[in-house]
Amino acid sequence: MKMEHKGEVLDPRQVFEKKLNFYKEEHQRLTTLLNVTRNISKELELDNLLITIMDEVKRALKADRCTVFLVDEDKKELWSKVAHGEKNIRFPVHLGIAGHVVTTGDVLNIPDAYADPRFNPEIDKETGYHTRNMLTFPMRNRLNEIIGVFQVLNKYDNSFTKEDEGLLDVISTIASTQLENAQLYEEQKKTLESFVETLASTIDARDTLTAGHSKRIAEYSLEIAEIINLPQKRRELLRYAALLHDYGKIAIRGDVLYKKGSLTIEEYCKIQEHPAITKSILEKINFSRDFSELPEIAGAHHEKLNGTGYPEGLTEDEIPFEAKILSIVDVFDAMTSRRPYRDRMEFENVVNSIESNLGTHLDRDLFNAFKKIKLDRLIQILVKEEVDHSDKLVQEDLQFLRLYDIQQLMDIIRDQSEYLEGKKVLDLFYKYYYRDYLNGLKGDYEKKYKMASV
Ligand SMILES: [Fe+2]
Ligand SMILES: [Fe+2]
Repeated sequence: MKMEHKGEVLDPRQVFEKKLNFYKEEHQRLTTLLNVTRNISKELELDNLLITIMDEVKRALKADRCTVFLVDEDKKELWSKVAHGEKNIRFPVHLGIAGHVVTTGDVLNIPDAYADPRFNPEIDKETGYHTRNMLTFPMRNRLNEIIGVFQVLNKYDNSFTKEDEGLLDVISTIASTQLENAQLYEEQKKTLESFVETLASTIDARDTLTAGHSKRIAEYSLEIAEIINLPQKRRELLRYAALLHDYGKIAIRGDVLYKKGSLTIEEYCKIQEHPAITKSILEKINFSRDFSELPEIAGAHHEKLNGTGYPEGLTEDEIPFEAKILSIVDVFDAMTSRRPYRDRMEFENVVNSIESNLGTHLDRDLFNAFKKIKLDRLIQILVKEEVDHSDKLVQEDLQFLRLYDIQQLMDIIRDQSEYLEGKKVLDLFYKYYYRDYLNGLKGDYEKKYKMASV
């Protein structure tokens, strides 16, 4: 039996195959869309999100390139992120085909770029790329305002179709919603960032003796985080906990906090209350879920693995991982900070002292990670907030010190290494570590100088 279809006679098998193909294509489109949606909605960091969107569109439309330009309303510019590139692209909002689409809201599907007068071949000339065809599509938000534009280049076979436009239309809705989420997320992060920084500077400003302590702790912690490859989310948590760990000191009277000379038992106990106060103040702040562990981590920086720390006497299994990082760098910074009345403690003694507490108070593996910090970073952090030194770092010195880490420095100091450049390492390190080093080799430094003859 033959079927009548729009005036032409079709074999039922042909009808079936047509339908089957249609459903196959529909299925393919839906699968593509599902994948795109899943991948795009996973990402909340604006830069990464932009790159994900561009990759997904490229793949979904089977094209060679995709760029998403976003409108910067304040500067009246379009901007985009270059994958793996350092600089973003920016140009005035009305320029080029992208500018045309942003201002008019038109979809421009250009099958032959060089035959179209709106195409500017100069860009190809500059980049060495050859544009054959392009699809430029406006991206709208929920209020139907144009917030950006997709520019997809070089469809693999043939040129862009109506179906591609339809697909891009749907992707555009998903992408714009997620881009707005990401922008909101980024704004919230900035607000939190400035809030935490302000709190941290309040505490550092009050306690002038330890100026910059919180910021240095944060930097050392991040160095360890990098070395042990801590996930990004945990790094942010760690950084905030570091910046705020001593915030509880705000509640301790100045005459006790800054007392010179020895403290009475009551005064000592008073000071020991600060981590618990840090914790209870931070608990009252309504942090997002990502930072819910912040009070607990910050409040545990004086806990010790064997349970003899304070305020809660937590043991190894109970101390949050990030707090174990904080306790190492907290002790290190306390010993390596300068006081108005004394220079830094001998570096060798600092390390010896920490090592004598490994396993009982401090975590051995984390200290091993700490010792992998390169000397240029160590110096940069050490001199942070120091008016007399921080601006005197010589780039050449830092470049050289970058070749060695704390463990290697200790090997040289302990005379356990045969580094040919051992003397130079010590020279440069001490130049920044000890204030008087450059004024002549005095006292104990001579001992460390014996490497000079090796
Ligand atoms: Fe503390
Ligand atoms: Fe501290």
